[in-house]
Formats: sequence, structure tokens, C-alpha cells
Amino acid sequence: CGIIGVVGRGDETLDVVLDGLSTLEYRGYDSAGVALSNGTLDVVKRSGELSNLREAIDAGESVPGGSVGIGHTRWSTHGPPTDANAHPHTDESGRVAVVHNGIIENYRALRDELEAEGVAFESETDTEVVPHLVARALDEGLEPEAAVRDAVERLDGSYAIAVVVAGEERVFAARNDSPLVLGVAEDATYLGSDVPAFLEHTRDVVYLDDGEFAVLSADGWRVTDADGGRVEKEVTTVEWSAEQTGKSGYDHFMLKEINEQPTALRQGLSGRLDELAGRVTVEELSDVETPGRVEFVACGTSYHAALFGVEALRAADIPAQAFLASEYATGPAPVRDDTLVVGVTQSGETADTLSALREARARGAETLAVTNVVDSSAARECDHVLYIRSGPEIGVAATKTFSSQLVALTLFTATLAERGGEDARELVAALRDLPNHLQHVLDESRAADVVEEYLDSEAYFFIGRGPAFPVALEGALKFKEITYEHAEGFASGELKHGPLALVTANTPVFAVVTGDDERARKTIGNVKEVEARDAPVVAVTDGASDVERYADDVLEIPETHPRTAPVLTNAQLQLVAYHMANRLGRAIDKPRNLAKSVTVE
Ligand code: G6P
Repeated sequence: CGIIGVVGRGDETLDVVLDGLSTLEYRGYDSAGVALSNGTLDVVKRSGELSNLREAIDAGESVPGGSVGIGHTRWSTHGPPTDANAHPHTDESGRVAVVHNGIIENYRALRDELEAEGVAFESETDTEVVPHLVARALDEGLEPEAAVRDAVERLDGSYAIAVVVAGEERVFAARNDSPLVLGVAEDATYLGSDVPAFLEHTRDVVYLDDGEFAVLSADGWRVTDADGGRVEKEVTTVEWSAEQTGKSGYDHFMLKEINEQPTALRQGLSGRLDELAGRVTVEELSDVETPGRVEFVACGTSYHAALFGVEALRAADIPAQAFLASEYATGPAPVRDDTLVVGVTQSGETADTLSALREARARGAETLAVTNVVDSSAARECDHVLYIRSGPEIGVAATKTFSSQLVALTLFTATLAERGGEDARELVAALRDLPNHLQHVLDESRAADVVEEYLDSEAYFFIGRGPAFPVALEGALKFKEITYEHAEGFASGELKHGPLALVTANTPVFAVVTGDDERARKTIGNVKEVEARDAPVVAVTDGASDVERYADDVLEIPETHPRTAPVLTNAQLQLVAYHMANRLGRAIDKPRNLAKSVTVE
């Protein structure tokens, strides 16, 4: 989602807010809205593209006025994209308007509490609790700044929040686990979830950190910590080209999205881990009956996520199989009474996957969609839906949505396994640490250096066993998609049954090996086989086994749970593909012949 805020632009406030929203809209949002304040608050919001909002305003249906403004473009996580669910959200008296990115984990409890006090809610969003909390604090006699602070203190989860209060020439903002940045100019102050929101007005920015609270006014800004203590912040000047602005300074959307993965995972996990009890709690799955058998249908990258799901379910003693959706659609597997067919599709619109799901339903199977897009066709047509909450992805090569799928499928498996009495304590701890581990991998990766060694190779192979097998397949797919070089992924054990004939000194092999179990030892055996054919080996490993001894290069990840390791090894391979493609000057965000969402069979 995108946030913009401004104070100090007088009559131009509405234009500044709408222009800010249009620079954020390239990411394809599903609703938008603005709130302007002077003595009173004016709010206009519409589902659909930003043009719907502009049309409503241009048609004079409602022209908001005021010299303090906030705006939002929404990517749904709670509730479908309707006018009512669009931001800003307001309290009953219309004094307070709020825009929010992220997920408020304890919104259910807060909503129950407010409803018990007689508050009437207008939307299905988690966000709407915030204006009601602020209004309640105002009613209790708090000053606006204290009231907003009081409301924010009640929130658990991830948020970037902006609040305006009628009669106040200020914008209040708070950040936790969701980006927020101030733009500083002589006579105006701006707020954005991303710098491009206000870049045409100022290049001087102040990045907020987690737990910080900001007050913006026309003549300045102030940042405080959770306890109200003043924080000295540095003003930095961004030097981006116009072309880079939508990419927040990154050269490509793909690299931006690779780097957004820790945030995407936090969103996907938000409210779904009960650390005290050591369990996962996925509300959306509470009405999914425990299946006797799971069949996945998916394409491309999502199929690799499905293979990971199979491996996870089988480890939990639940029979599972993954099918390429295009194959299943014309030759479905037998469906039994207790079969759950799961469509894994980030877009929710892939024609092959939709046909496979329709075929499964026609045969009487219960269906679940695992998708990133709220209200997508898959979400609407399936009996159940589990949202991966990755946020919008622009790069054709799927990156953060794949990581989010792995996490969602881990949560799905753990939910079913817990019903069988399995203890998820270690897994819950690993999932909690995963965003930080992933950040570490992204910060420290040597992938850019490693690719320099292998620029002119004949072909690139990727091998792995067990949960590392889908990572090998995905590593190769990403690589071929954006470098246009020949790349293949194999199950390590299969290498000797054919592909080994292709292995030479000019075919680097990326070996994904984590842990130090039988699988790791056997893959190391396969590594020795390729080494004996003089192939260079790049080990992608947590260092638990001694695979490094046989490797020419190593891409490291921290030690973690077997279920979470694939997210980290895969991130290294995303960077390998990215840096190789960049080095070769490929059209990374729009590789030839490919589309992000394929709606033909
Ligand atoms: C297209 C994309 C792939 C994607 C596949 C499935 O082929 O180019 O990157 O993995 O569709 O997409 P879905 O939206 O169903 O996950």
C-alpha cells in the first residue's frame, strides 16, 4: 500500500496528495482515498484505480478542501477492495482520519472492545480500530498528539500510520515494521511510505525507525521514541534519477522486491504465530477440515512452492502430491471424499490453475486458494482462501511472492500437524526469526562476486534433495528466465541417471545443502560426482555439513529450521540470477516472451 501526507501547501494540498498517490500507483492498487482537514475533515475514497477517485473529485461529487492532507492507495489484506474498505478510515464523529499500511494483529480484540462500548464499524478492515481509539482518547480529554500516541500504544503488529485530526494543522505518524519517511522542505513537510510519493517537492528526507512517532507541521517536524523522548534524526539527500524513483533507488523492481522480502514475511506471519503457546494460529484455516490427502495444483514458481508444500506435509505424515496445473486440468487425479485440492497462485488469475481448480470442484473436491491477491478469481472460486500477504510484485520474475508462499504453506502444514498433536514450538521460533535471518542473508550475500567467476559458462545446474529440491528447481527457473542462459534444476540423486552426461568444467553446479543429515551426506556424494568431472561447485549452505570442502565458492545462510532454510537458500539463488542477468545487461523486470500472469491455457 502507499501513504502520502503533507502540511504547509495551502490550496495545493489536494493536488500534492493526488500526485503523490499517482507516483505510488504504478504498483497496481485496488482502491484509493484522501482526507483533508482544516476546521472539519473531508474524506473521499473509491474502490478501483486512482482514476476512479480523481473522476469522483473532478465531477464535483465531493471536493475535499483543507491545508493538511493524507492519502492512501490500498492493496487489500483484510476485506475485499470496496469503497468502505478503502482508506482513510474515520471515527463516528468524523474528527479523525487514518491511513495505514501493514497488519494490526490484535484488531479483533480491539474491535470487540470498541463494539462492546457501542462503536459502530463501517468496514471490515483491521485499520478502522485506530480512528475509533483516537476518538475515544480525545473524548477522555487527551490532547490530539497524546490521543494518537495513546491509540498507537494499543496496537500490536506491523504498521505505518498517518493520522489527521479536524482543526489540527499537523499530521501525526507512527512506524513499526512498515516503512515511513519524512520529506523536509522550507515551508512544508511531507510523509510517504516511499520517497517517490513526494520526491518532486523535496529530496531531503528523514527515515523513521521502528517504534518512532513523528509530528509534522508546516514549519517543521519532530520525532520521538515510544516513551515520548526526543530523537535526533539525520536529514539525508536522495540522489535518484526520475527513472529510479518508482524503484526507491534500486536499479530494478526485482532487486527492490528481493529486498522487500523481510517485510513481506513479517506481514505474512503477522498475527499467525502464538509464541507463548508455541503454536501457529491461522484464522482463515479454522474452518478447513483436516484432509486425508492434499493435492496441489500450480504453475511455474508457484509449482515449486507446491513441491515444497508436499515435502512439508509428508514430513507431517499427511499424504500429498503436487501437479502441474496444465496437466491436472486435462487429466485430474482421482478425488476422494477427504481430498483437499490447493491452488497455489500468487496472482489468483492463472488460467491453467483456475481450470485445474474448476475441474477439482466439478469432481466434488474441497478447494483452498493460496494467493496474494484479495478477491482474485482463485480466491472467489475456492471454498477457502489463505492470503500470503506479500504486497504487490511488479517484476515478472516472482521473488517475494515465492518466499511468502513457502511461509504460508509452512503455516498451512503446521496447522494440520498441530491437530495431530505435533509440537510446533521450534518451528514457531524459527519463523519468528526468519525475517531477520533473511535480512542478514541479503545484507551479506556474496552472490554478485560469485557470478563474476562464471560469466561465460555453457550451462548452469542446480541440485538439491528433499526441501532443497524445489529450491534447486526455482533457482534454475529464475536464472533462465532473466539471464536467457541455459539452466536446469535436478534432484541431486537424479544427476547420475542422465544429466551427468552434460557436466563439464564449463558447467557450474550450484548445490543446495543444509543441515547435516542423511540427505546432506547423500547430496555431498553427488557433489563429489560433479567435482570428479571438473565442474566448478558453488555450495549454498548453512555450514552444518562439510560440503564447503568440495566447493569452489560458498554462499552462506544462518543455521535455521529445515522448514525455513529454503527461504534463505532461495534468496541467495535469487541474487545469483539477478546479478548474472544484470551483468549480461538483460531486461530483468520484463524478460522476453514472459508475462507476470498468464490468463490463457
Ligand atoms: C507466469 C509467470 C511465473 C509464475 C506463473 C504462475 O508464467 O511468468 O512467474 O510463476 O505464471 O503464476 P501464479 O500467479 O499462478 O503464481
